[in-house]
Amino acid sequence: MSTPRRASEMANRRPSVLDSPSSRRQSGRSSRRPSIDPSRLIPIDKAIATTGSDFNVVFIGAGNIMFGSDEGPWNHSFRLEHKLGPRLKVVALIDPAVERATAVLQKKCETFVRSAYENTRVFRTLEDFVKNMSRKDIPRAVIVGSPPMFRGTTQPGRDIELQIMKFFPGVALFVEKPAATGPVHEIEEAFSIARHIKETNTICSVGYMLRYLRAVQMMKQIIDDNNLTVMATIARYACAYEAIAKPDWWDKSRSAGPIIEQGTHFCDLSRYFGGDVDISTVQAHSLEWNENAGHLSKMKVDETAIPPENRIPRVTAATWKYESGAVGSFTHLVALQGHDYSCELEVYADGYQLKLVNPYVQPVLYVRHPGSDHEEMHRFPDDDPFFSEISVLIDNIEDIEEDPETAQILCDFEDACKSYQLTWAIREASERNKKTEAQASVTTSASAA
Ligand SMILES: NC(=O)c1ccc[n+]([C@@H]2O[C@H](COP(=O)([O-])OP(=O)(O)OC[C@H]3O[C@@H](n4cnc5c(N)ncnc54)[C@H](O)[C@@H]3O)[C@@H](O)[C@H]2O)c1
Repeated sequence: MSTPRRASEMANRRPSVLDSPSSRRQSGRSSRRPSIDPSRLIPIDKAIATTGSDFNVVFIGAGNIMFGSDEGPWNHSFRLEHKLGPRLKVVALIDPAVERATAVLQKKCETFVRSAYENTRVFRTLEDFVKNMSRKDIPRAVIVGSPPMFRGTTQPGRDIELQIMKFFPGVALFVEKPAATGPVHEIEEAFSIARHIKETNTICSVGYMLRYLRAVQMMKQIIDDNNLTVMATIARYACAYEAIAKPDWWDKSRSAGPIIEQGTHFCDLSRYFGGDVDISTVQAHSLEWNENAGHLSKMKVDETAIPPENRIPRVTAATWKYESGAVGSFTHLVALQGHDYSCELEVYADGYQLKLVNPYVQPVLYVRHPGSDHEEMHRFPDDDPFFSEISVLIDNIEDIEEDPETAQILCDFEDACKSYQLTWAIREASERNKKTEAQASVTTSASAA
């Protein structure tokens, strides 16, 4: 049931907006992925849709990441519509919330992108789709945007990647971050999926879209062009908690906590520059909800409905050693109000400081060069990493063997598993220290008495 490319499709393909000789720079496997020439990452309105025959896609999940929401700029269907134009045919939308799925399709069919959705069928499970499909419905890509508790394991009902590879061998996958959400002992299952993806040569991209920012690629370019060795990464992620109204996000038993669910983006970005982490070195401390300094005055959810042991920390600060010897640090804060997050990543190398500010809203990159105190500032108006991520995926599906200039996918499943593992290590380290601190305070008060 694989989907061989047709010669006519290949002949019709326009050059990719991301094609560039420098995008092929290889720096080995692991998290040091090749970079993309930042000047090639063009805004969505300047991109030209690919040409060729129909491109079948299956969507798993009819939620915010797939169809957009007021919470942020994510919306994979919108980027696919722009990348593929009238070629896009969404053959199935899989979601147990059938009403929600039907409603989003109805909305799409009222717009000029109707041709992509007018024949889309809704199914509760992938298996139902497979039982009811014909050969003409075979997808060329499956986009997975279901919640992470339903994926990233080898267990029935939570093994969507394995199911997709079983039913559609050779078909490309896009999977949202994080790789999984479950008990820490299940991490090995996620790694076994990564191995299966690699062994079967399945094209797979994971949704760490910050890697595709033009600013991030400029940082990579500076490091590559000057042959730099990263000495340290310093990351800070302060979310605007007032805007977070999903009760699950505040409940560790449901979302695994803010480092695994949200800080994951910056842990992954840190790894993108620092390389693999020596997990045994991870240290962390947290400020908890029940400590005086952890009181929040503008929470939108009723935290008393969440069992105390499942409530999330307000601050988590971690440090670690990369296998290269470099040092990483990350502080996550649930502290700001309003809407916008305040996030920064600094990368240091001999003579260099690369400081990425505000990557979610309006990325700015400050670069300090050797022998100078001056900070050079770069702005990146109209950058859309979500589009670049989808664009690279489609280019890889259509071209991976034929066009050596196609940019590489910047985050594969194994890389995503390593970021997931780092976030779990941070959570565990902070929880270990919490117990130690609690014991210490008992000891102190006992000796004071
Ligand atoms: N990269 C980013 O910036 C970004 C942004 C938003 C969300 N995400 C990720 O996308 C994923 C989904 O988040 P969301 O905000 O869209 O959530 P959501 O709750 O809005 O939507 C999830 C949808 O999946 C459906 N679903 C539940 N179980 C399913 C299953 N077994 N099979 C298929 N569908 C199922 C739900 O009914 C719901 O419609 C999460 O992993 C999240 O972290 C990433």
